[in-house]
Amino acid sequence: MPALFSLAMQDTSQESLDPSDWQELRVQAHRMLDDILNHIEHLREQPVWQPTPPRVRALFHEPLPEKPTDLARIHQSFMHDILPFSIGNAHPGFMGWVQGGGTVVGMLADMLAAGLNPNVGGRQQIPVEVERQITRWMRELFRFPDTASGLFVTGTSMANLIAVLVARTAALGADVRQHGLAADGKRLVAYASKAAHGCVAQAMDLSGIGIDALRTIPTDRQGRMDLLALQQAIAADRDAGVAPFMIIGTAGSVDTGAVDDLTAIAEIAQREKLWFHIDGAFGALGMLAPDIAPLLAGIERADSIAFDFHKWGQVPYDAGFILVRDGTMHYDTFASPAAYLRRECRGMAANSPWPCDFGPDLSRGFRALKTWFSIKAYGTEKLGRVISGTCALARHLGRRIEAEPALELLAPISLNIVCFGYRCDDPDRVNADIAVALQESGIAAPSTTTVNGRLVIRAAIVNHRTTASDIDAMVDAAVAFGNALADDRKTGEAA
Ligand SMILES: Cc1ncc(COP(=O)(O)O)c(C=O)c1O
Repeated sequence: MPALFSLAMQDTSQESLDPSDWQELRVQAHRMLDDILNHIEHLREQPVWQPTPPRVRALFHEPLPEKPTDLARIHQSFMHDILPFSIGNAHPGFMGWVQGGGTVVGMLADMLAAGLNPNVGGRQQIPVEVERQITRWMRELFRFPDTASGLFVTGTSMANLIAVLVARTAALGADVRQHGLAADGKRLVAYASKAAHGCVAQAMDLSGIGIDALRTIPTDRQGRMDLLALQQAIAADRDAGVAPFMIIGTAGSVDTGAVDDLTAIAEIAQREKLWFHIDGAFGALGMLAPDIAPLLAGIERADSIAFDFHKWGQVPYDAGFILVRDGTMHYDTFASPAAYLRRECRGMAANSPWPCDFGPDLSRGFRALKTWFSIKAYGTEKLGRVISGTCALARHLGRRIEAEPALELLAPISLNIVCFGYRCDDPDRVNADIAVALQESGIAAPSTTTVNGRLVIRAAIVNHRTTASDIDAMVDAAVAFGNALADDRKTGEAA
């Protein structure tokens, strides 16, 4: 008996991770909700960003915990050691890279999604229908046919990779999946402008086609793909006996926000019988804004579009999306039947095809819910106004720069991205230092990039919370830091 008893005591089959006291949990849960809502409500009173002190960094080197820690204590660690040291893209002063600000609605929806915890790889369940609803809405927005397929992915990097793989299938046939690229003997080549995001080259790499097979086409003064150069490159490749298969247009380039002439590229792709993909990471959702949509004319002719709801759509990270005109080709690129994923006409295994048939992920979270909540709660008109508003702010920033003798505008403003610099003797060094000084001041957080060989301060205005006063604060601080840095350099030289 005693031996049996001790065996029973060690039985772990009754371990559950649910709370033993639900009432206590509810109180704690409400505290957590209140704290994050307070944080968002009072974002403006906080610095955009602050460096993480070594003491805080060291806290994340603790050994793997064997014993439980009280939830309230973990929450306090979050409040003191995590929340203040995030990158700050929710803050109105954040203008670095191209990052959305998120919304309270999206956050709450994500909480509900996590609570429900569905695996949206497939099966007969409404979360799959919610994702299909978003696909239907995107077909409507981009005027794609009912046969187009859509899929949530992490972000546009993954969406671009999926597009390259589908285009490869279209060029070589589905057998390429079995036999590999070499079996066909054709050397595929694709085309994108030199302003295309680095993930396009990476997609060529990951697909096995190779980075060398991406022809980078020069851009015009507006940062758009040079169409004559594109056609010459295609002709040269055909003459050389290689096989053009895809053109990747950019709708909103990462450096300057340039939009390729999508209608003209659609014409060329149609004539040359090439797959026309658009990287519209942030720009594609400009379709929601009546004043921006005309710049995207031709997007409705693409074979596939990659974009993110987490940028201009303000949906919390991550919420990338791929839309493919030929849903069958998309399915043929990824569907991988397996006995354990057998489909039925009824029961839980019904409802084929499943999302897992359209991408590499079998287990998938419920990204569609936060997107569905956001689109329903705000409506496309308001989301479109937010997009227009960020472009209006970019123009305001452009005017401020032009009116400020110490600053210069270093690229045309196409959408919501502004590249500028401080005028001085060693502008690359000083502009890099100004960007860091702005970030460390907590006033505003632009990033940097290189345009026409020059290092520029780059403000990507994506966040719905950003106002003209945030722009003005950044301009004033950039001039002040620039003056101080230039003075320091003069003093240093004199010494
Ligand atoms: C034009 C463009 N393409 C692709 C990407 C990559 O998107 P993600 O970070 O969602 O993978 C970005 C990111 O800013 C981008 O601006």
